[in-house]
Order: sequence, then structure tokens, then C-alpha cells
Amino acid sequence: MSPSVSTSIAILAWATCALFFGKYLDSAVAFVAASKSTAPELETRALLETGWWNSAMNSSSKSSPCEWVGITCNADGSVIKINRTSVFLGGKLKLNFSSFPNLVHLSLSGTRLEGSIPLEIGTLSKLTHLDLPFNNLTGELTISLANLTQLVSLNLYDNMLRGPIPPTLGHLLNLKYLGLDKNRLNGSIPPEIGMLRNLVYLGIEHNELIGQIPSALGRLTNLKDLSLSWNGIRGSIPPEIGNMKSLIHLSIGNNKLDGPIPSTIGQLTNLKILYLDSNQINGSIPGEIGNLKFLTSLRLQSNHLSGPIPIDLSSCYRLEELLLRSNNFNGNIPHFLISIRRVNLAYNSLEGPIPKGYDRYHTSDTLDGNNDLCDVYFSPCPVSGGSLLVCFIIWGSVGALVVCLLSARCIGTKTHSNKSRETKDGNLFCIWNYDGNIAFKDIIEATEDFDIKYCIGAGGYGSVYKAKLPSGKVIALKKLHRLEAENPTFDESFRNEARVLSEIRHRNIVRLHGFCLHKRCMFLVYEYMEKGSLFCVLSNHVEAQELDWSKRVNIIKGTAQALSYMHHECVPLVVHRDISSNNILLNSQFQAFISDFGTAKLLDPNSSNQTSIAGTYGYVAPELAYTMVVTEKADVYSFGVVALEILMGRHPGELLASLPSSSTGNVMLCDILDQRLPPPIHMVAPDVSLVAEIAFACLRTKPKSRPTMERVSREFLSCEKPPSKSLHTVSLSQLRNQEMYLVGSTTETHRSRSPCG
Ligand SMILES: *[C@@H]1O[C@H](CO)[C@@H](O)[C@H](O)[C@H]1NC(C)=O
Ligand SMILES: *[C@@H]1O[C@H](CO)[C@@H](O)[C@H](O)[C@H]1NC(C)=O
Ligand SMILES: *[C@@H]1O[C@H](CO)[C@@H](O)[C@H](O)[C@H]1NC(C)=O
Ligand SMILES: *[C@@H]1O[C@H](CO)[C@@H](O)[C@H](O)[C@H]1NC(C)=O
Ligand SMILES: *[C@@H]1O[C@H](CO)[C@@H](O)[C@H](O)[C@H]1NC(C)=O
Ligand SMILES: *[C@@H]1O[C@H](CO)[C@@H](O)[C@H](O)[C@H]1NC(C)=O
Ligand SMILES: *[C@@H]1O[C@H](CO)[C@@H](O)[C@H](O)[C@H]1NC(C)=O
Ligand SMILES: *[C@@H]1O[C@H](CO)[C@@H](O)[C@H](O)[C@H]1NC(C)=O
Ligand SMILES: *[C@@H]1O[C@H](CO)[C@@H](O)[C@H](O)[C@H]1NC(C)=O
Ligand SMILES: *[C@@H]1O[C@H](CO)[C@@H](O)[C@H](O)[C@H]1NC(C)=O
Repeated sequence: MSPSVSTSIAILAWATCALFFGKYLDSAVAFVAASKSTAPELETRALLETGWWNSAMNSSSKSSPCEWVGITCNADGSVIKINRTSVFLGGKLKLNFSSFPNLVHLSLSGTRLEGSIPLEIGTLSKLTHLDLPFNNLTGELTISLANLTQLVSLNLYDNMLRGPIPPTLGHLLNLKYLGLDKNRLNGSIPPEIGMLRNLVYLGIEHNELIGQIPSALGRLTNLKDLSLSWNGIRGSIPPEIGNMKSLIHLSIGNNKLDGPIPSTIGQLTNLKILYLDSNQINGSIPGEIGNLKFLTSLRLQSNHLSGPIPIDLSSCYRLEELLLRSNNFNGNIPHFLISIRRVNLAYNSLEGPIPKGYDRYHTSDTLDGNNDLCDVYFSPCPVSGGSLLVCFIIWGSVGALVVCLLSARCIGTKTHSNKSRETKDGNLFCIWNYDGNIAFKDIIEATEDFDIKYCIGAGGYGSVYKAKLPSGKVIALKKLHRLEAENPTFDESFRNEARVLSEIRHRNIVRLHGFCLHKRCMFLVYEYMEKGSLFCVLSNHVEAQELDWSKRVNIIKGTAQALSYMHHECVPLVVHRDISSNNILLNSQFQAFISDFGTAKLLDPNSSNQTSIAGTYGYVAPELAYTMVVTEKADVYSFGVVALEILMGRHPGELLASLPSSSTGNVMLCDILDQRLPPPIHMVAPDVSLVAEIAFACLRTKPKSRPTMERVSREFLSCEKPPSKSLHTVSLSQLRNQEMYLVGSTTETHRSRSPCG
């Protein structure tokens, strides 16, 4: 007899024996009074009946199923765990459930089971884990699942189950994991699911659910993962979703949701994944999204969302994927997007320039189908001495037209109201201060209705265009994006501000020629500055050499006078808050014009002078690091930086950093001057020395120690120059130790000067 035949016979005998004893014991149960030893026999028989262990058994003489592959027993030899994961079983789930009073774990994942889940499964009263994913189970979810009150995990992922989710699942109060994804469940999500307070995972993706997301789900405060994608769920996202504070992964894409994204989404501060794509969600992205510091992936594509891409998203600094394709987003492409790895913005209504560096990670098809994108990669300065247009007015980061604002009136300013002209034409309202004739239609014609080829730059709220009017006059236009133009509050303050600005005049403040207000098109018209920003001119070697010492001194003087006017002649006073070489524009004669009043603020006796931080890095006064109170002395500091920058030909960052140490002790003024120019001589040398002296006074750490702009301006107007020492003999420490300009200092009277006759 071959060994294999003998083994087969042995097995057969063993099996028959087991069956016989099973039958015998079965009838004996009554008088053995269900002694402990009987249970394993019942279990053995029930296991054999399944036919799931044929292959395991011919391998051994293992008499107890406790030693079979995938079976775990307790100390009494009773089966507590059945695990036949990934074994081909096929057929129905025909386990005699009543034979397993101690079963806690039933795992039949991927065993090709068919048919429905038997009602009798409800007898497994100790079951904690029921894992039947990746099978072909059909029929409805049996009502008796509700009897399995010890269940911690119910996984029915990827079967063919139909019908509704029984509300009685809400009885399974120990449930942590409920996976019903990839079936054909229909009906709506029963609110009773909200009773499963221990739930950590709830997945019902890829089913045929209808109805709304019950607000009761908001009670699932331990839930980390909620997946409801690919169903037919309707209605709006309930605000209660914000109560699910443990959520890490929320995916409700590919449904029929409408209404807004609730702002309560901002309470889900643990969220990493948020998928709301392919619905009919409308409204704008709530700013609260910025609270989601752990967010790595945000998918909102294919919805009806509108409004701007909120700058708040820049606080989600772990964001790696941002899909906004196929919505109605408008406004600019915010600069922070350039650092997000995967971005898709195609098919929206975005406008303005594409931020420099956007192409580092992103291809141009991520921008397809947008309106008015100005496809120019702006570098802050032109590469060579070529066109300066690009550089003209980089209107600063917040460069809206909040230009010189609100209700400022300036003493001694003749209003030009008789030169101004108002045009009213239906929705269109224009005011022109420019004495030439400008008409709305001229602007539209000159820019070919704001064609991108005329776009020369952009700020946070709008794009800047250059246009030549029929008269030959070249102007710069700052156009608000549609969103701002449609916002009633903005519209109102814009009207007020623009009117007032047209009354503020100074020869060193950029001129507003007029503005137009129209429902869909708001813009400001400025005089055009041929040379662009001071920063650009200083960065270009050819231009920088053209900018000789006397031109440089004049720029500093002009800037000082404009600031003095804003600080001391306007009531209430106007603080610019963003003085930098970028915001000082130069005309063809290199005369200075302060621009970009986007962050400017009025200081009146009634208003709180508290403010959020503004300004450009490298120009912000040190006190603003710890106080939010804005004073005009912050402008004085920034002016000091710009003045030194003009003398040095570059930003004085390193020098300023080294000032507190003694290492600058022996540095001479001439050592820091822009080496691209010959040293200042004759009349201009004392001016350069005076500028340096004043600049260091303006850079004093204590705001109160800095001179006022009025004082600075007076100093420049006076005829008395500092003694004309050779610049080689003037050291920085000498300049810095000057007591002058200190309030009440004796030098003030000592050095009184008479104005030039
Ligand atoms: C069990 O027996 C069958 C047929 O005799 C054989 O094909 C199979 O390999 C055996 N299984 C094991 C685990 O020995
Ligand atoms: C079930 O068995 C499979 C393979 O035999 C194993 O990978 C898995 O971890 C087991 N599952 C449980 C819950 O014991
Ligand atoms: C399950 O086992 C019990 C006890 O052995 C028996 O009474 C019952 O008929 C079995 N059920 C099925 C469906 O085989
Ligand atoms: C389900 O059954 C179909 C045939 O009816 C088969 O093609 C498929 O592979 C089965 N799926 C699983 C997971 O067993
Ligand atoms: C479920 O429990 C109920 C009582 O709570 C009981 O009547 C019913 O027979 C049980 N169903 C099953 C299949 O065990
Ligand atoms: C759910 O599907 C079944 C067929 O599987 C159908 O009879 C029933 O009407 C459906 N229910 C809903 C609410 O669509
Ligand atoms: C969003 O859509 C609903 C109708 O689905 C509409 O009532 C509501 O006004 C829309 N909201 C916005 C902001 O468009
Ligand atoms: C403007 O002209 C009107 C008469 O046309 C005159 O009454 C008014 O005073 C003038 N306003 C200014 C500011 O010159
Ligand atoms: C704000 O500053 C202005 C100018 O320095 C001052 O007149 C005003 O009193 C200040 N307002 C408050 C509330 O402190
Ligand atoms: C400040 O408030 C007073 C009293 O409310 C008011 O009369 C005055 O006009 C206000 N000043 C400004 C500049 O708004």
C-alpha cells in the first residue's frame, strides 16, 4: 500500500469517526448537560461540515481542530478564531454558527464566498471581528447583524450586497470599524449610525446611497476616516461635520451634494485629506480652511465653487495637492501656489498674471480654460537695459487702490474739482482729474478691452496695464478683478477712497488721473512712470550709473517731502506703511514718486491705531515685531533704509545687521557708497554726507529717537550743509553718534538753518 493511500484511508476513518461521535454526542447533549468538553466536538463537526479544511487535514493526524491552520482555541479547547483569509473556499457561508458559542473572530476575507449572509450569524454573541471583505456575498445586510453587540469590526468591503443599511446597526455600540464600501447598498445613511460613538472608520464608498448626510454623524467625535464617495448623496454638507474633531480623512467626492462648504470645516484641525470633488457644491472656499494645518490634499475639482482662491490656504503649509479644476473660481492666482507640488486650476475664471515660478512644478495645462490670465512671468526687474515696462509698478503685495484713503484732506492742497469731469452712463461712473480728455471707451480701445498683451504687472487685487490714449498720453491702469468689483462693501469704500485720492496732490506722490466704476470693471488711471521702480533701476548696472549722486540725493529729498506732507499736512495723517525701493517709482527724469498706498492707514484721534503687520521684509521698523500700534515713525525707519539703499546701491541689510556690533567702528562712509559711481565730489559730497547722517538717525531703534519727516525735510531744504569734510574721513560711527534730530537736543538750536532765499 502506498503511503498516500494509507493516509487517505486513515483520514477517512478519522473523519467518519468524528462524524459518528458528533452524532452520538449530539443526542447525548441532553444528559451531559452541556459540559465544557462537548463544545469542541460540536465545533469540530461544524468545521468539518464546511469542507474548508480538506487540504489541511490530509497533511497530519491532527485530531483537534485547534491545531488546524487558521483555527485558534481558548484554554478549554473551544474555537475562538477562524481565519481562512485568502483561501479559495467558494460556495456559501454555510458555517453552523450555533456551534461556536465562543467565537470572537471570523475572518473569511477573499475566499470567494457567495450567497447571502445567513440570519443565523446573529447567534455569534461573542463575535468581535467579522471580516468578510473581497467576496461575492449578495443579498441584503441581515437584520441579525444587530445581535452582534460585541462587534468591534464589521468589514464587508467589496461584495455585492444590496438593499438598505439597517438602522439597527446603531445597536453595535462597540463598533470601531464599519466597512461597507464597494457594494450595492441603497437607501439613505441611517441617522442611527451617529450612535456608534466609538467608530474610528466609517466607509460606505462606492455604493448606491441616496438621501442626505445625516447631521447625527456629527456625534462621531472619534471618527478618523469617513468615506462616502461615489454614491448619489444629495443635499448640503451638514455644518455638524465640524464636530467630528478627530477626522483625518474625509472623502465625499462624486456625489450630488450642493450648497456651500460649511465654515465649520475649519474645526477639523486634524484633517489631512479632504475630498469634496465632483459634486455641485457652490459658494466660496471658507477662509477657515486655513486652520487645517495638517492638510496635505484638497480636492475640490468639478463643483460650482466661486470666489477667489483664499489666501488662507497659504497657512495650510503641508498642502501637497490642490485640485480646483472645473469650478468658477475668479481673481488672481495667489503666489503661494507655486510651492504646492500638484495643482490644477484649469477651467475656472481666474485672471491676472501667472506667478513667477509657477512652472517649476506645474504644466501650463493646469491653467487651461481660464480667462484673462496674463501669461507673463514677471521678474522684478528686466534682465538687461531693455524694456522697463515689466518692472513698472510691482504694486506691492497688497497694492489695491486703497490708495490714500478714506477721508484724508490735506491742508494747502488746491482741489482740482473744476478740472475734474464726471461721466455717468448707466452703470458706468467715471471721474477724470486729468485735464486732457479721457473717455471710458478710449481706455477700452487703448487696452483692447484689457487684453493681456497690455498687462505689465499685478498686485494682490488687480492687474496693471499700460495704455496709450488717442492723445498720445501714456497711462498706467490698475484694474480690479471682477470679484472685488462685485463686492458691495468694497465698491462703496472704493468710491469714497478714489474720490479723496483725487484731491491729494504732491509732486512726489504718484498722480491719479481718474477712475472708473462699473459693475464688471473697476479701474484706476495713473500717470505712467517710464523708469519703473527705484529697486529696478538700482539693480540694473546701466541705469544705476545713469542715476548719479545728485539724482540720488534728489530722489531722497523728494521722498522725504512727500512723506512729510503725508505725516504733517494731511488730516488725519496718512502713514504709508510700505515704503521700500519697490514702491518708489521714477519718471523719465528719475524723479521720485511714492506709490502703492495699498497698506496705507489713516491715523485719526478716534480710530484705534492697532493694526495688522504690513510692509516689506527688510524695511519694517523693529518695533513692529512686538507692537501692533502703527505710528508715522515706522515710515521714518523705512525711509532710512531706502536712503541708505540709494547711497549703497543695494539693500543695506548686512550693514544694519552689523550695526549693533563694534565691527562697523572703523568703516568709512566712502567704503559703503555705491562703487558703480565715482565718489561724490564738489557740491554733492556734503549732501551725501547729510543723507547718511539723517538715514542713521532715521534707523534708530527707539521710534521716539527718530526725527520726524518734517524735520528731515526741513534739513534738506536748508542751505547750511555739514562741513565739507572729505568723505574718506567720515566714519559710520561718527555719523551714528550725531545727537542731532533728537527731540529737544541742543544741536537742534545750535544748528538752526535759514531757508534758501
Ligand atoms: C491533500 O491531499 C490532496 C489529494 O490527495 C493533495 O493534492 C494535497 O496536496 C494534500 N495537501 C497537503 C497539504 O498535503
Ligand atoms: C489571518 O491569516 C492570514 C494569513 O494566514 C494572516 O495574514 C492574517 O494576519 C490573519 N488574520 C488575523 C486577524 O489573524
Ligand atoms: C447546527 O448544529 C446544531 C447542533 O449540532 C444542529 O442542531 C443544527 O441542526 C445544525 N444546523 C444546521 C443548519 O446544520
Ligand atoms: C465573483 O463572481 C464572479 C463570477 O460570478 C467572478 O468572476 C469573480 O471573480 C468573483 N469575485 C470574487 C471576489 O470572488
Ligand atoms: C437576535 O436577538 C434577538 C433578541 O435580542 C433574538 O430574539 C433573536 O433570535 C436573535 N437572532 C439571532 C439570529 O440570533
Ligand atoms: C434598493 O434596491 C432594491 C433592489 O436591490 C430595490 O428593490 C429598492 O427599491 C431599492 N431601494 C431604494 C430606496 O432605491
Ligand atoms: C448655491 O446653490 C443653491 C441651490 O442649489 C442656491 O440656492 C444658492 O443661492 C447657491 N449659492 C451660491 C452662493 O451660489
Ligand atoms: C469751480 O467752478 C465753479 C463755477 O463753475 C465755481 O463756483 C467754483 O468755486 C469752482 N471751484 C473751484 C474749487 O475752483
Ligand atoms: C492714533 O494716532 C494718532 C496720530 O499719532 C493720534 O492722534 C491718535 O490719538 C491715536 N489714536 C489712538 C486711539 O490712540
Ligand atoms: C471723532 O468723534 C467725534 C465724536 O464722536 C466726532 O465729532 C468727530 O468728527 C470724529 N472725528 C473724526 C476724524 O472722525
